[in-house]
Amino acid sequence: MSRKILVTSALPYANGSIHLGHLVEYIQTDIWARFQKMRGHDCRYVCADDTHGTPIMLRAEKEGITPEQLIDRTWHEHKRDFDGFHVEFDNYYSTNTPETRHYADTIYNRLKEAGLIEVRTIEQFYDPVKEMFLPDRFIKGECPKCHAKDQYGDNCEACGAAYQPTDLIEPYSAVSGAKPVRKQSDHHFFKLSDPRCADFLKHWTADPAHVQAEAANKLDEWLQAGLSDWDISRDAPYFGFEIPGDDGKPTGKYYYVWLDAPIGYMGSFQNYCDKHGLDFDEYWKPDSTAEVYHFIGKDILYFHALFWPAELHHAGFRTPTGVFCHGFLTVNGLKMSKSRGTFITAESYLNHLNPEWLRYYYAAKLNGSMEDIDLNLEDFTARVNSDLVGKYVNIASRCAGFISKRFGGKLGEIDRAATAEYETAFQAGAIANAYEERDFGRALREIMRLADVANQYIAEKKPWEMAKQEGRETELHEVCSTAMTLFRDLTLYLKPVLPKLAEQVEAFLNIPPLAWSDNWAALPTGHVINDYQHLMTRIDPKKIETMVEENKQSLAPAPEAAPVRHAEHQQNEAKAEVAASEEKSAWESFIGIDDFTKIDLRIARIANAEHVEGADKLLKLTLDLGQETRTVFAGIKAAYAPETLVGRLTVMVANLTPRKMKFGLSEGMVLAASDERGGPFLLAPDSGAQPGMRIK
Ligand code: 2FM
Ligand code: ZN
Repeated sequence: MSRKILVTSALPYANGSIHLGHLVEYIQTDIWARFQKMRGHDCRYVCADDTHGTPIMLRAEKEGITPEQLIDRTWHEHKRDFDGFHVEFDNYYSTNTPETRHYADTIYNRLKEAGLIEVRTIEQFYDPVKEMFLPDRFIKGECPKCHAKDQYGDNCEACGAAYQPTDLIEPYSAVSGAKPVRKQSDHHFFKLSDPRCADFLKHWTADPAHVQAEAANKLDEWLQAGLSDWDISRDAPYFGFEIPGDDGKPTGKYYYVWLDAPIGYMGSFQNYCDKHGLDFDEYWKPDSTAEVYHFIGKDILYFHALFWPAELHHAGFRTPTGVFCHGFLTVNGLKMSKSRGTFITAESYLNHLNPEWLRYYYAAKLNGSMEDIDLNLEDFTARVNSDLVGKYVNIASRCAGFISKRFGGKLGEIDRAATAEYETAFQAGAIANAYEERDFGRALREIMRLADVANQYIAEKKPWEMAKQEGRETELHEVCSTAMTLFRDLTLYLKPVLPKLAEQVEAFLNIPPLAWSDNWAALPTGHVINDYQHLMTRIDPKKIETMVEENKQSLAPAPEAAPVRHAEHQQNEAKAEVAASEEKSAWESFIGIDDFTKIDLRIARIANAEHVEGADKLLKLTLDLGQETRTVFAGIKAAYAPETLVGRLTVMVANLTPRKMKFGLSEGMVLAASDERGGPFLLAPDSGAQPGMRIK
């Protein structure tokens, strides 16, 4: 039975380039959508640029153009990059469109009618020079914890501490440099704390069809903690849609970008329906039988699996059939980094390498879970060269020449014993199931197993030897024709991953586009194929080196308030799920060894640890350095009871200028690890280290 499926990928912001991190998602979704289409399902894949918000407004201003000009330019760049990677949307649109505005207003008005919108006065930082309210990322100042200068208002990139903008020492506006003031303003809230929302979401998220188990656990944690109302409005100046007033009068308030972003899925689909005569309501009415799937990164789960279904449900629309959540990309085991040259843009990749190599590699790594995936550049080269070129393309390149040269391109009989063996190796439906479950790694392992069977057959028969021996024409013809049939079959299974290569093979084999139901049809005797043209080259590691070098040189340091993925995230739990890939990395700028040796790191024994009266976060530590003792106030109270620390060895910075604090003089710093996953975790040396030893 043919299914009606609507698929989306997260909408990329219209002020940044597509890079290899983004592509994990688009390639994944594209493979899945192509698979569904090959199966004969009625599947539509839509997306759009996410165009609203403060960073886009300011970026345009900085460039001296209008936001409309900026988003138009970016749309074309994004479209070019997606085309380059064969990501084939049925519609690629924008959120700054009448369709998205229509659904934003519809949803807002219906939520309001349902009593789920509330207007409240809140106080926020305001830039008196620029005359605008400042999102957290646009307030900078000194980190309250490690005192690094110029840190963002939500977390410190030097020490990883998370805090509120109000905690910053000497805060300033990243837009104008002015000292921000506190100012009140009315904001519109979506009342997620209403029991109707919580009840609905508890039910919705508990259905394993809606979210993966790992995601359900996370959602459950959030639900247990209780949902806060969601601030969905922003004040002018803002680039977005103005919220309509009761009497049709302007409100001067705008929908927060995250309100209209997922609505952009609807906007893009409406636009598609209008162009293709499809019925939008068939897909979006509450009792729709169509399936709707959103592919997203784990950092935006909160928006897609809590806010979004709650909005849809209470505004009288259907909710998603499934939210498919994936992990982040690391390159060579580390966060993508500009200084290492691993923050690779789609454009730069395409200048050097074949997009289908990356599609194949990502597919091989994806398994439908939320785990991060690693692009290990050496493994990438080895895998593509051995699987795609060595195993798959090799089948055609070793046999096709004989068909053209010796048999005028005409195929002969098929070796039924060989195809039967291949068929036995094939687990019926296994590949399709793996694709359906988004376990592309499993699908490819299965396909490569079949490629091994085909290669083994050719290796045993040795057509190149037959070709040299008289009287073995028929055998040669049969082996090579059989190889062509097996090659055709493998191409079919690989087609969702390698659509362009499959097209080339279809042209070479002179066959119509392969559909899933074509599996196992042998190429008929007498069928004429075209001359073999080289299908795919091996990856030359030098090209990767050049690409990495180019990315090292060509990317300037991130500008102030860069278009990071999280620039506009709410100050809520979603922030804890910080995207690994795009965040401006604290590791980005290298230092020389001379700089490093300036820091006198020593082993210290915690001789005493005690609470500090009046300090919420600090413990007073007495550190024994062998020859001397130091007093250090450390912000680790939340994680450690003082009595558990006494006697422990740790690491301290011994030559930090002593700092006078309210509670006394702090003569150094102890080292601890932390990020959004937890901490602080104090460092400890291996056994044998003694107080006072230098760390180098
Ligand atoms: O995180 C992001 O990059 C957002 N632009 C994703 C939006 S997805 C959807 F909600 F539109
Ligand atoms: Zn800090």
